[in-house]
Amino acid sequence: MAASSLLSLMFLISTLLLASSSLSVATNPTTFTIPLSPIFTKHQPSNPIKTLNSLASSSLTRAHQLKRPKSKPPLTKTKVFSHSYGGYSISLNFGTPPQTISFLLDTGSSPVWFPCTSQYFCTDCDIDPSKIPLFIPKLSSSSKFINCQNPNCAVISSINSLSGCQGCNCSQACPYSFLYGLGSTLGLLLSETLDFPEKLFTNFLVGCSIFSTQQPSAGIAGFGRTPESLPSQLGLTKFSYCLISRRFDDTSESSDLTLYRGSSSDAKTPGLSYTPFRKNPVSNDSAFREYYYVDLLKIIVGSKPVNIPYKYLVPENNANGNGGTIVDSGTTFTTMEKPIFDAVATALEAEMGNFSRASANVVASTLFNLCFNITGLKFEKIKFPELTFEFKGGAKLELPVGNYFVPVDVGNSSLVCLTIVTDSTFGSVGPAIILGNTQQQNFYVEFDLKNDRFGFRRQTCNKK
Ligand SMILES: *[C@@H]1O[C@H](CO)[C@@H](O)[C@H](O)[C@H]1NC(C)=O
Ligand SMILES: *[C@@H]1O[C@H](CO)[C@@H](O)[C@H](O)[C@H]1NC(C)=O
Ligand SMILES: *[C@@H]1O[C@H](CO)[C@@H](O)[C@H](O)[C@H]1NC(C)=O
Ligand SMILES: *[C@@H]1O[C@H](CO)[C@@H](O)[C@H](O)[C@H]1NC(C)=O
Ligand SMILES: *[C@@H]1O[C@H](CO)[C@@H](O)[C@H](O)[C@H]1NC(C)=O
Repeated sequence: MAASSLLSLMFLISTLLLASSSLSVATNPTTFTIPLSPIFTKHQPSNPIKTLNSLASSSLTRAHQLKRPKSKPPLTKTKVFSHSYGGYSISLNFGTPPQTISFLLDTGSSPVWFPCTSQYFCTDCDIDPSKIPLFIPKLSSSSKFINCQNPNCAVISSINSLSGCQGCNCSQACPYSFLYGLGSTLGLLLSETLDFPEKLFTNFLVGCSIFSTQQPSAGIAGFGRTPESLPSQLGLTKFSYCLISRRFDDTSESSDLTLYRGSSSDAKTPGLSYTPFRKNPVSNDSAFREYYYVDLLKIIVGSKPVNIPYKYLVPENNANGNGGTIVDSGTTFTTMEKPIFDAVATALEAEMGNFSRASANVVASTLFNLCFNITGLKFEKIKFPELTFEFKGGAKLELPVGNYFVPVDVGNSSLVCLTIVTDSTFGSVGPAIILGNTQQQNFYVEFDLKNDRFGFRRQTCNKK
C-alpha cells in the first residue's frame, strides 16, 4: 500500500477531534517508580542459539538504523527475527479512564507511541494484535487528535519521515511515520492524559499507531533527548533504572525505572561514578540530536588499554556527525565499528591464550563475531580477562563477565562468545559505538538530565 492510501485509511479510521495542546507543568518535586521487565516475545527455550542469533541480528539491524536514520534500511545478510526483541518494557496508563499499555523503554529514540485502535495492523510482528493491549481513543474522554496546524505537529516533524503535514490536508490530523531498525510505525498524533498514581499529566503527545512493521508487541516509550520524548514532556530532572540480567529466558521478574521531577539538588547519588553527557554533534542528521552521547576514552582488556583511533571516539562536529559513543537501552548487544571491534577482539584473544578462537564457520553459525572454544571446561570455572570501559572524568564501567561473554553450545563444542557485535558493512557513519542493554545489566544507571551527566554503579538488579 502506498503511504498516501495508508493515510487516507487512517483518516477514515480516526475520529478527528481537533485541539491545541500545551503541557501542564507542575513544580512540586515528585518521584515515580515503574516496574521494568525484560521482554521476549516468543522465545525458543529449545533453541538458545536461535534466540541469541536473533538478538545479535536485531542488534546489528538496529545499529544500522541508529547510525543512518535517514537512509533506507540496508539489506543485511541475515534474516531479522522481529520476535525475541531483547529489550525491557514498562507499563503506562493513558486516557480517562486509564488504559494500561506496555512500552519498550528506549533511550535511543524520542517519540512515544502505542498500538492504537481496534484496527491496529502489524506486519512481520509475530504477534496477534488481538492479544496485546491496544489503546482505544474512543473509550477515553481525554483523547484529542492533534491537527496539522498545531505547532506540536512540527515538534515531531523533525524526526518524522512524513515531514509533518506535507501533502496532507492541514486541517486534518497530524500523521507521523517513525523508523526503527527494519521496522516502522505509522499513525496519527494524539494528545492524551498520562496517568501515574501520584499525578496526572494532561496533553501528553503520544503517537496513535495504526500500521506497523516489525515492531515489538508493545508501544515504544522514547526516552531520548529531544522535546517529544517522555522525559522532555514530563520535565524530568533525571531518570534511573537497573536492568535485571537476562539469561536469555523468560522471566517474570522486574526491577525499577524511576522518574524524578521538579527541583532536585545537584548532589551526586552516593556510590555512582559520573561522566558528562557530550553535546550532540551539530550534524544534518537531526536524529543524532535524540541520542545520549558519552565520551568513552578507553577500552581496557585485562590491564591493557586497546589502541582505538581518536576519530572513532569523538563525534565529528559537522554535517556528518560521525563517531562517538551513545547509550541505548533499546539495543541488546553493544555494537562497534569494525576497526574498534577488531582491536578489542585481538586484545581479548591475546589474553585468552589458553583457548583457541573458534573457527569462522562455527562462529558464522552463531552470528557472533568472536567465540572461544572452551570444550571440556565449565564457564563458571574460567578466569576471563576483565573488560572495562573508561569514560571522561574517570568513571570506569568494569563489566561483570556475564555482561560480555555468553556460553553457547555448537554441536559437541562448548564455546563462549563475546556479546559485542560488529558488521563489516557499518562504515564510519553515525555513532561508532552503541552501548547496549546487555552491557548495562546489573548496574544502577542514572540519566541526570538536569546536570547533563551519566552515572552508574554495580548493583544486583534482580529483586529477591
Ligand atoms: C480538508 O479537510 C477539510 C475537513 O475534512 C475539508 O472541509 C476540506 O475541503 C479539505 N480541503 C482539501 C483541499 O482537501
Ligand atoms: C548539510 O546541510 C547543508 C545545508 O543545508 C548542505 O549544504 C550540505 O550538503 C548537507 N551535508 C550533508 C552531508 O548532507
Ligand atoms: C593457561 O594455563 C596455564 C596452565 O594450565 C595456567 O598456568 C595459566 O594461568 C593459564 N593462563 C591463562 C591466561 O588463563
Ligand atoms: C573444540 O575443542 C574440542 C576439544 O579440543 C574439539 O574436539 C572441537 O572440535 C573444537 N571445536 C571447535 C568448534 O573448534
Ligand atoms: C558428538 O559426540 C557423539 C558421541 O561422542 C558423536 O556420536 C557425534 O557424532 C558427535 N557430533 C558431532 C557434531 O561432532
